[in-house]
This record gives sequence, structure tokens and C-alpha cells, in this order.
Amino acid sequence: MQDFVFDNKTKIIFGKDKEHVVGEESVVYGKKLLLHYGGGSIKESGLYDKVVDSLKEQGVDVHELGGVMPNPRVSLVREGVNLCKENNIDFILAVGGGSVIDSAKAIAAGAKYDGDVWDFFTGKAAVEDCLPLGVVLTIPAAGSESSAGTVVTNEDGWYKRAFGHIKLRPQFAILNPVLTYTLPAYQTAAGVTDMMAHILERYFTNEKHVELTDRLCEATLRTIINNAHTVIEEPENYDARAEIMWSGTIAHNDLLNTGRIGDWGSHDIEHELSGIYDITHGAGLAIIFPAWMKYVYKHDINLFAQFANRVWDVEIDLNNLEATALAGIEKTEQFFRSIGMPVTLKDAEIGDEHFEEMAKKATENGPRGNFVKLYQDDVYQIYQLAK
Ligand code: NZQ
Ligand code: ZN
Repeated sequence: MQDFVFDNKTKIIFGKDKEHVVGEESVVYGKKLLLHYGGGSIKESGLYDKVVDSLKEQGVDVHELGGVMPNPRVSLVREGVNLCKENNIDFILAVGGGSVIDSAKAIAAGAKYDGDVWDFFTGKAAVEDCLPLGVVLTIPAAGSESSAGTVVTNEDGWYKRAFGHIKLRPQFAILNPVLTYTLPAYQTAAGVTDMMAHILERYFTNEKHVELTDRLCEATLRTIINNAHTVIEEPENYDARAEIMWSGTIAHNDLLNTGRIGDWGSHDIEHELSGIYDITHGAGLAIIFPAWMKYVYKHDINLFAQFANRVWDVEIDLNNLEATALAGIEKTEQFFRSIGMPVTLKDAEIGDEHFEEMAKKATENGPRGNFVKLYQDDVYQIYQLAK
């Protein structure tokens, strides 16, 4: 097991109606607040009014920036940075999903920096200071509500890039499972896939003697698998929505990778897809993850067989561990298909015209992945396997 520091400051406020405390949780950080949100779902659901009322009750001066798109764009981030600087904003409140939260995080960093915010994504600058931010989460998926990372797309070249800093972790995240009832089935399923991918990225490690975190990963995966069909078939099932929502946070708050080194190759390979094709991140992962598994499983057949057995109840065949490992990969792919996700590029109507370009872009700063290092040709082969 690796040495580690586990430092996750995000205060989680979980349960029905908890959005009503957003005013009192926010005002602690100052009276000038930027309310950041997406394309309108929070207005349709009535959440916007509840949030604004709660903020106004505390005498908060609310500035607004809506319009965050899925796969958030750096142009809106730049607008947000200017707004914060011009109005001396003290605190950013993100109401929405991963895209809104990531956009808010980038604004929070950019607001305390004199140069262009994209510098953080290219590694040209490192975060020294940033505005504090809080979250009211409306979709369990990205785990950005308590992660230290942000992922933003630059329209100039369609680069989707990430960076992380511990200061980007939100101060608080309000998680009310009822707020997720309005999610379309496709977004629910993409969220389920993304949180499973966050665990799988951590699970497939070269680190030995990580039994506790192996088991925590497996338990969280099993909980998600056990509740996924229920939330799709019964969108207003509170208990199942609650299990999924908490799993989404646990999947990505860094507890599950304590003592281990995660892979993250599949995420990098997927980011090229959503950068160019604007595909939903979770749907892109449903395509890339099984292909990645097929490409790398021989690197540690025992670990893949353990995954098949403990997560999917595949009986271990001691005479043919490879068959056990492959059965686990097949179950994973079948599951993604069963919740309505595409599992091939063809399903998503994506052809092979950009394979070379995406493989090149994905590896231009060096090989991807830690479980198995992937160079340009490996990434290209994984796109081929995903066809
Ligand atoms: O924009 P609105 O109108 O709010 O609609 C959104 C959006 O169209 C809709 N939605 C959200 N909550 C809803 C709802 N519709 C009805 N009812 C609700 N309660 O769902 C759509 C998708 O929203 P988005 O925020 O894009 O989803 P998600 O949370 O999956 O975020 C995806 C982004 O997060 C990044 C991804 O790359 C992607 O850009 N990630 C961020 C990570 C991080 N910061 O730690 C890690 C992840 O691996 C991921 O890469
Ligand atoms: Zn993800």
C-alpha cells in the first residue's frame, strides 16, 4: 500500500429539502455571490426559486451566470472570471451537475489569477489561490461536488482538458436525492456509468495489499449495479436515488483510492471523444471502458478474475482464469447496454475518421494510464476495439 494523505474538506449535507440551508451555508463566505447554473433544468424544476429565496433571506447579493453546456466551454468560464473580478465576488454557488461545478471551479481559480484561465489546463500556471465555492447537486455522476478536479473544453481546437488542485474542492455540497427525480433516463444511466468508471479507474491498479480499498470499490460498484435499473424504471424511488447519489460522491471523493495508484487512461481516451463529438461523458465511457479492459486484461488476469467474481458473481474457473476475467468484461459491457448506454462507437454513430487525430492528441503530453502505459498506437488500437 502506498503512503497517503486523505484530505477532503467538502461538507456533505444529504437528504430531503436540504437545499433550503444553502443561504446559511453560503453567507459564511461573504455577501457577494455568483450563482452559476446550466441550461434551464433548475428553473423548470423550481430549484432556482428555492435557492434564490434562501440566499435572499440571508441578505446575499446574488449575481448570476447561467448557460453552462454539458462539456463546459472555456469561453463562458472567461465570462465568469470577468464577472467575479468586476463585482468583487466572494463566493461561487454551482447549482447543477458536473459541467456547472467544473465551470464554477475554473472561474474560482481564474478569478484570483491575472493571466488567462486556460493556463491552468495547459500546465502553464498553477493555482495559488481561488475563490471558495459551494454546490447544490442535481445529477449524481461526475463526483465533482467533492473532487479536486475540473474538466473544461476549449473551443479553439476542441481540447477537453482537466486540472486539479486541493483548493478547488467545494466547501459544501448539498445532496437531495429528490432533485434527481426529473433526470431523463439517459442522463441517469450516463451518470451511473461515469461513477462506475471512477471506481474502475481506481480498482485496476498495480498496487498490491490494498484489500480494504478493493473491498470498498467492490461494495460501491455492487450498490450502484443493484440500484441502477430501479432508478431508471422508477425515477421517483427515493431509496434507490439516495443509494445512487451517495455512491456517486463516494466513487470520486478520493477515499477509494487511498493507498493505491489509479489508472485514468480510459478517461483521457474518452475526453478526446467528448471534445470532438460532444458526446455525453458517461456514454463515451460506456464505449471506451470495455474496449480498454479487452486491451489490457492480460496485464493482470488475477485482478480481472477477482473483479468478475466479486462484482459480477462469475464463478472462478481455476483452470481457466482468463475465461473468468473475460466473463467479467462481458458482464460489464452487457450491463452498460442494459441501462441504455451505447457500447460501441457505431452505436453512437461515430466513425473512424478522427482515430489518428484523437490518439495523437490524447498522448501529446506523454503516455496515458498507469495500470498499463498507453502510447499513441495503443490508444489508436483501443478506438479500433471500440468500433
Ligand atoms: O443544463 P441543464 O439544463 O441543467 O441540464 C443538464 C444537462 O443537460 C441535465 N440535468 C442536470 N440535472 C438535472 C438535469 N435535467 C433534469 N433534471 C435534473 N435534476 O443533465 C445534463 C448533463 O449535465 P452535466 O452537468 O453535463 O452532467 P454530469 O454531472 O454528468 O457532468 C459531466 C461533466 O463532468 C465532467 C465530464 O467530463 C463532463 O464534462 N467530469 C468531471 C469530473 C470532475 N470534475 O471531477 C470527473 C468526471 O470524470 C468527469 O470527467
Ligand atoms: Zn468521469
